[in-house]
Amino acid sequence: MPDIMTEPTTTTSSGMPTSLLSSAQLDTTTIEAVLDLAAKMRSDWPAPKRTLENRAIALVFEKPSLRTRTSFDIGLSRLGATVSYLDQSASPLGDRESIKDFTMTLERYADAIVARVRRHSALVEMERHASVPIVNALSDLEHPCQALGDALTIRTVYGRLKGVKVAYIGDGNNVCNSLMLTMAAMGATVTIVAPSAYEPEPSILSLARERAEEAGGAVHLRTDPDAIAAHDVVYTDTWVSMGSESERDERVEAFQRYRVTKDSMNRASVGGKCPSFMHCLPAFRGVEVDDEVMDGPGSLVYEQAENRMHAQNALLTMLLSTNTHKNGANP
Ligand code: CP
Ligand code: NVA
Repeated sequence: MPDIMTEPTTTTSSGMPTSLLSSAQLDTTTIEAVLDLAAKMRSDWPAPKRTLENRAIALVFEKPSLRTRTSFDIGLSRLGATVSYLDQSASPLGDRESIKDFTMTLERYADAIVARVRRHSALVEMERHASVPIVNALSDLEHPCQALGDALTIRTVYGRLKGVKVAYIGDGNNVCNSLMLTMAAMGATVTIVAPSAYEPEPSILSLARERAEEAGGAVHLRTDPDAIAAHDVVYTDTWVSMGSESERDERVEAFQRYRVTKDSMNRASVGGKCPSFMHCLPAFRGVEVDDEVMDGPGSLVYEQAENRMHAQNALLTMLLSTNTHKNGANP
């Protein structure tokens, strides 16, 4: 396991962690509870219970975002929170002042800090100094809020997560890591299909396998693109994540056989039924996935984008109701 994941993290008696840096911090029962509340909030939308009245949330982004930024901003505002966006794209965390000073200042204003960072270690450093929850809004290693929204999407379509067969094809990246950890904990069968040089982080893979074993699921690793056959869901993500743009040409070449096309979706069918297609977005149409699939009848990509918001609303509500923290008040 990478050191950055082995940092001590606190869990409350309810099973809810005090911060969410990694999907590994959420056990089966806690994921179920987040999804249940998210589904309730979705059914109450656009007037969910104002669970975050008088709360202030800081959104700290070192990288661009459409979905994450907007879904946190609008979603949390609808719950009554004040949301403040800090664009850190021109001033990486730790450059202008130490991450300690940054965090300990920000928590005097905000009840929680949601951060999209270049390096996962920045989140770990923030959490070390914070007395308010830190939420990973994407790091180089994980994207846990995405995985919660995706689990909600799959549960909505299939009525369950246990036993659902999910194939993730492409880069074994942050989205892949969090999806695998989350779906494994829910007893799904997850097949990761990636070229050998782009497999997921081995320690995360082995943790996901342990979680799957406990939950009655399985995690398989394959290199053959045809291994997506007979799955309920085919999931892919960009081949060139934010931060790896300098590797674009070699990546595009390495992943050519892993593009999701109408033909590959037909080959993945179960009993003549075409699988659902998922992508966290942004998608590069015609690169990792064809238009026919993105716009096809099985595409869930916009449901995923919406469910991000409900899952995050539930997550922040639970984090802020189970954690005691300073809430900006001087002792
Ligand atoms: N899926 C996702 O996180 O999208 P953004 O990068 O637009 O936030
Ligand atoms: N893997 C992608 C996800 C974007 C939401 C990236 O890190 O850029």
